[in-house]
Amino acid sequence: MAKRIPLAIPSPCYVLEEKKLRKNLKRIQRIEKQAGVEIILAFKAFATWKVFPIIREYLGGATASSLWEARLCDEEMGALAHTYAPAYLPDEFSGIIQRSSHITFNSLAQFNTHYPQVQAYKKQKIKCGLRVNPEYSEVTTALYNPCAPGSRLGEVKENLQTSLPKGITGLHFHNLCESDSFALAKTLANIEKYFGHLLPDLEWINMGGGHLMTSKDYDVKHLVKILKDFRKKYDIHVILEPGSAIAWQTGFLQSTILDITENNGIKTATLDVSFTAHMPDTLEMPYRPEISGTVPKSDHGYRMGGVSCLAGDYLETYYFKKPLKAGQVIRFQDMIHYTIVKTTMFNGVRHPSIALLKSGGELEILRKFTYTDYKKRLS
Ligand SMILES: Cc1ncc(COP(=O)(O)O)c(C=O)c1O
Repeated sequence: MAKRIPLAIPSPCYVLEEKKLRKNLKRIQRIEKQAGVEIILAFKAFATWKVFPIIREYLGGATASSLWEARLCDEEMGALAHTYAPAYLPDEFSGIIQRSSHITFNSLAQFNTHYPQVQAYKKQKIKCGLRVNPEYSEVTTALYNPCAPGSRLGEVKENLQTSLPKGITGLHFHNLCESDSFALAKTLANIEKYFGHLLPDLEWINMGGGHLMTSKDYDVKHLVKILKDFRKKYDIHVILEPGSAIAWQTGFLQSTILDITENNGIKTATLDVSFTAHMPDTLEMPYRPEISGTVPKSDHGYRMGGVSCLAGDYLETYYFKKPLKAGQVIRFQDMIHYTIVKTTMFNGVRHPSIALLKSGGELEILRKFTYTDYKKRLS
């Protein structure tokens, strides 16, 4: 048998696996066809634009949350964006108009401020929508809960008792986070209860993101059924804009142990990556990433230490079969969605490279970062 040659992955490096990305995209495309809906990518979760040609083989477009994301959609996806932001910067709005097919406003006041500019734009017809707050959520982390009491995201039922202003043809809601289809069903029940009087006159509804349709246990059949039923009941075009689902479990962050320290019996393996700078959700959410080769319990427990000097830049103890050594590789799984887009250059620590592991087994380095990237972000 031919000997497998280990890939020369630079350290640190995010490695996106093409096979896994395509597997997710195929499933999403199947759902889109079966349910008769439109599914687009939320850039806020994944915007590695060098692989947009792969994404475009399966999906028609993207949702943008700012002018820069709308511009990326135009430049690198060749599509007009579905744009939504909690508020639009006045000096960016004309740029957003030029690059959007749909613009969703977070409030009636935002709509009233910007609608005249949309109406005056003649190059393409833009569909205007309003975000509503369904006041239903299963998200327990307040930082990620758009329906927490007093949330600023979307108009609540009290403000929409009668009809919508002329010019609004769609509604948008986003309340889920890594959720199942049953959470969507409960959300739709609230949408009908609170905003049912508006639905018969609408052309489209955007059901936001948070639909984890590429995870192993997701009930795809149920999702297809509820989407189909809703679409037929209101004769409405349904749009979904997941981010996480597209890049869910499509790659890893590879790092290397630089040093091992011990303090009162607690051992820490300090790595060439930082949790706060390169995996911020592990501290913010917080969530515990899987590390390849770990075991539930052993005599060889180590905290994973980040290379920034922030005291809390570490993860609690992981267990390994054998003692760890400096120079050894540590691989954090599922480090693509929300991770790559949220990094910083805090402490000036070196930013991990970004690579694509192609279906044929070849590694393509998409991006390496240098001192100039660090310096140019500053002034
Ligand atoms: C308005 C909106 N749409 C879509 C998404 C994507 O959600 P997810 O990546 O969980 O699918 C988000 C995430 O915050 C969002 O705020």
